[in-house]
Amino acid sequence: MNYGKIDIEIIEKLIEICGEGDVIYKDEEKLENYACDESGKIFCNPPEVVVKPENTGEVSKIMKLANVYHIPVTPRGAGSGLAGAAIPLYGGIVISMEKMNRILEIDKTNRVAVVEPGVITNDLCRKVEEEGLYYAGYPMSVGLSSIGGNVATNAGGSKVIKYGSTRKHVLGAEVVLPTGEVLNLGGKRRKETWGYDLLDLLIGSEGTLCIFTKLILNLLPLPKGTVDLLVPFRNIEEAIEAVKALFLEAKVLPTAIEFMDKTSVDIASQFLNFSLPLQGNAQAFLIIQIEERSKKELEEAYEKVGKSCLKNKALDVFVADNKTNSEKIWRIRRELTEALRNKDPFVSLSGDIIVPVSEIPIMLKKIKEVEKKYSVKTATIGHMGDGNLHPALFKPKDVSPEDWISLSEKIVEELIEEAIKLGGSGSGEHGVGLLKRKTFLKTKPSTEIRIMREIKRIFDPNMILNPGKVI
Ligand code: LAC
Ligand code: ZN
Repeated sequence: MNYGKIDIEIIEKLIEICGEGDVIYKDEEKLENYACDESGKIFCNPPEVVVKPENTGEVSKIMKLANVYHIPVTPRGAGSGLAGAAIPLYGGIVISMEKMNRILEIDKTNRVAVVEPGVITNDLCRKVEEEGLYYAGYPMSVGLSSIGGNVATNAGGSKVIKYGSTRKHVLGAEVVLPTGEVLNLGGKRRKETWGYDLLDLLIGSEGTLCIFTKLILNLLPLPKGTVDLLVPFRNIEEAIEAVKALFLEAKVLPTAIEFMDKTSVDIASQFLNFSLPLQGNAQAFLIIQIEERSKKELEEAYEKVGKSCLKNKALDVFVADNKTNSEKIWRIRRELTEALRNKDPFVSLSGDIIVPVSEIPIMLKKIKEVEKKYSVKTATIGHMGDGNLHPALFKPKDVSPEDWISLSEKIVEELIEEAIKLGGSGSGEHGVGLLKRKTFLKTKPSTEIRIMREIKRIFDPNMILNPGKVI
């Protein structure tokens, strides 16, 4: 693709739109802050200019300008993505949504929140809680990620079994198209059969079809109580069998069933400087979260779950029914990616395969197989209740960083191919982005790719929005 260059004329026009304080250029140190995402340092590329619009009108004007001059534009939320979707591969403009971070409305009658895309997920969760309401999106980067990024990647996280991915929480959106046109899709309503669902198409499009400028989000009544169970198992196989049995026996739908293998727990525990009970004996841990509408229901539910786990060979069941203990358990899970990266700056975190829960044992066997085949150490965590696994791959000492890019890509591709064979997919929640594009194009049926490419062309005739990603 032949893209236009950022010159002084473009910079002046951008300053006219956003104001001088909201345009970063020439300052290499500051531009560098927008070069990477959380997938690591390997694929980073700085933009030529960063703009920080404060309203939809400015976003629209920026896109119109970029469209006329064929400048590549990369939208960016908080930069917490793990697939490289926010990396400005072709330089050009980064539109950072950090200044559009207001919670505009919490509408209790309609049970919705209207927010700008830059709102940090956890800030929204806390704010609606004050009103006795509940936002059910909970990516593990909840304290860092922005709602706009959650929507752009259809983020998952730990509460998907019960409440679904981000897609399920979005009732409406205002979006700016690559041409600068503004669309309002959906609204404060919970259903609609009124033509093709463009909103659903845009959710998860990873910044390649539109920029989200406003979101209308579904809220639920706040559950009355939460309990977290920490459940260690002697080995991984027993942990998986216990999850399968739980679905069949306990007749309770937990909010979360998270999995951590021993290597992950040991690394996180070292990083955070505290340990979990039975850490020495257990090869696998589950964190099971239960939320119910009354104290009585909650007690009944967690007793059933606990009993089922013990019956299925759990070494013990530790109950955290207060904030301090719960926070300790969840911290170890939430901070795992940081702990892994701290252990090995080159660790590959792009593994995000998803398979039917029944196929998890085969998938885990495959992970062990590639570990041996390529002499690469792994640590696996995952959203076990969804069949979504994150096998982290550590760079072997004798492999250079350059060779590691292709080797880790090859291993991830092998795992993705296996997941697809098992009726799963290449990504449960992180997306295709930049890192998995090759594998995505190789493994998706060609008819689907053709349709997606045609859709891309309709939305973005000059191919300026987030080029080099997904499709
Ligand atoms: C997690 C991220 C890697 O589950 O998705 O921790
Ligand atoms: Zn995850």
